[in-house]
Amino acid sequence: MVSKKILITGGAGFIGHQVIKKILQNTDWELFVIDRLSYAGNLNRINDVVEEVGGGAEKRIEFIFHDLKASFETELLHKLNKIDQIVHIGASSHVTRSVQNPSEFVHDNVIGTFNLLEASRKFDSLELFYYFSTDEVFGPSDKEVKFKEWDRYNSKNPYSATKAAGEELTIAYANTYGIPSLISHCCNVYGERQHVEKFIPNTIRKIISNEELIIHTDSNMIPGSRFYIHNEDLAESIVFLLKNKDTVINEAFKIQNKEPAKVNISGDSLISNLEVAELISNELEVEFTYKLLDKDPQRPGHDIKYGLDHSFLRSIGGSFDREFKFGIKNTVKWFTDNKSWINL
Ligand SMILES: NC(=O)c1ccc[n+]([C@@H]2O[C@H](COP(=O)([O-])OP(=O)(O)OC[C@H]3O[C@@H](n4cnc5c(N)ncnc54)[C@H](O)[C@@H]3O)[C@@H](O)[C@H]2O)c1
Repeated sequence: MVSKKILITGGAGFIGHQVIKKILQNTDWELFVIDRLSYAGNLNRINDVVEEVGGGAEKRIEFIFHDLKASFETELLHKLNKIDQIVHIGASSHVTRSVQNPSEFVHDNVIGTFNLLEASRKFDSLELFYYFSTDEVFGPSDKEVKFKEWDRYNSKNPYSATKAAGEELTIAYANTYGIPSLISHCCNVYGERQHVEKFIPNTIRKIISNEELIIHTDSNMIPGSRFYIHNEDLAESIVFLLKNKDTVINEAFKIQNKEPAKVNISGDSLISNLEVAELISNELEVEFTYKLLDKDPQRPGHDIKYGLDHSFLRSIGGSFDREFKFGIKNTVKWFTDNKSWINL
């Protein structure tokens, strides 16, 4: 007998596919995956991890081609009726695109979350609605500031605002309709099969192709920096939260005294964009050229640094983090072995 049925949205995306892999490896759960296969979604990610896991893992996954912008029809509600947990990762995710086309982000991330929450009200056995959010909802953190789970939102671009809106809808539905919920914020993620538009794969591509890099800076020409977490470590944390949801929710309430539970997930490596480029260049053994840019017309809402206080997750044993220099080494190797992922 299968112990749990999990619905993952955005499973053909970068983070979603790694969560699928971890669940297939570490549980006997059955998975339903919803994705609209935008330009960022790619079924090869799921095919690859199913193959890596082996042992007939494909029998435990059902892929559902569905766009969350549409409400759930009766047939789909019926199929998902016995769902135990929902992990809502699917979203439009690239900040620069949100500056160019905010409407798409409002539709995918706000309306999409609303439609999923509405469906959740109809799932009788639902024990968890997990909304996966971002550190960007808090806006820039200067110097030593690290945001706590319930700090105020301060969106600097449409992407962040739509993710914050999804959070608030989740909170409202938890409080109004009693949907048991959990929200996490996460720092920047890196690893294999990330879309080439994101900073790390794009930097690997540009250095291999001898293209000049653009390094965003503050007004003093200091390069921006990010906390990074490897995608596999993040997936480990997500599965930890799903497996230990009752403890997590109880422990969070003791500290936060609010519902639903919120959890910050972060690596400990704060790396500047220039340092990332240097590490990649060392791995590739190829020199690079770059220009510093303090005001990018394509990224008017570019934040120079984010920061999350992840002491709560660490205190309950759910924090996993490899050293960035090892994670980036494997990532560079993976992309050089799989160059089609960076359009080479
Ligand atoms: N990548 C990061 O560094 C990072 C950091 C913190 C938080 N996040 C959050 O994690 C989530 C996933 O990020 P990612 O990097 O895997 O993104 P991604 O763009 O690689 O994947 C997103 C997936 O969601 C799907 N999707 C988008 N809109 C949809 C809709 N309306 N209906 C169904 N499917 C839809 C896409 O087709 C795609 O497969 C996002 O919510 C993002 O806000 C990402």
